[in-house]
Amino acid sequence: MKKITIESTLDVFDNFDELPSDVQSLMNSAKKARLKAYAPYSNFLVGAALLLDNGEVMTGSNQENASYPSGLCAERTAIYYSGAKYPDAKIEKMCIIAGSVHNETSSPIPPCGACRQAIAEYEVKQESPIEIYFMGETGKVVKSESLANLLPLMFDKSFL
Ligand code: THU
Repeated sequence: MKKITIESTLDVFDNFDELPSDVQSLMNSAKKARLKAYAPYSNFLVGAALLLDNGEVMTGSNQENASYPSGLCAERTAIYYSGAKYPDAKIEKMCIIAGSVHNETSSPIPPCGACRQAIAEYEVKQESPIEIYFMGETGKVVKSESLANLLPLMFDKSFL
């Protein structure tokens, strides 16, 4: 038996103002999308925005359902929308902003496991990394150079 160590390196920006201007603009799109979330059960609103290599920005927000598992996260809403509308475009960057309506969320909110798996599918498909930025309503912003950093030992088509 031997142990293996898995490491990921992430960049942490102190706040929104430290982000490069193109990322600020994409995060602002995610912020706007967040306000369109339909989240009457959790009251936790999430927005996601993708920048495609054709220049388009695709956004999504979480969409809940009285039958709870039928709802969908913001990240998957955005990425499936993008895949459906521009199947040949590559996704360059993704910004995510999340927080409860009850109190201001100041810690960065990472995408859930199911969303990481969904984003991984597109990263593998397009054979180029997707930069991911995530934040709470305020505070630090975390950047991952690729989805792969956030999902070590990912399951992908190479195993099928
Ligand atoms: N949610 C997202 O939209 N993205 C995530 O990565 C985590 C959770 C949504 C799902 C649900 O509508 C609410 O946040 C609370 O879990």
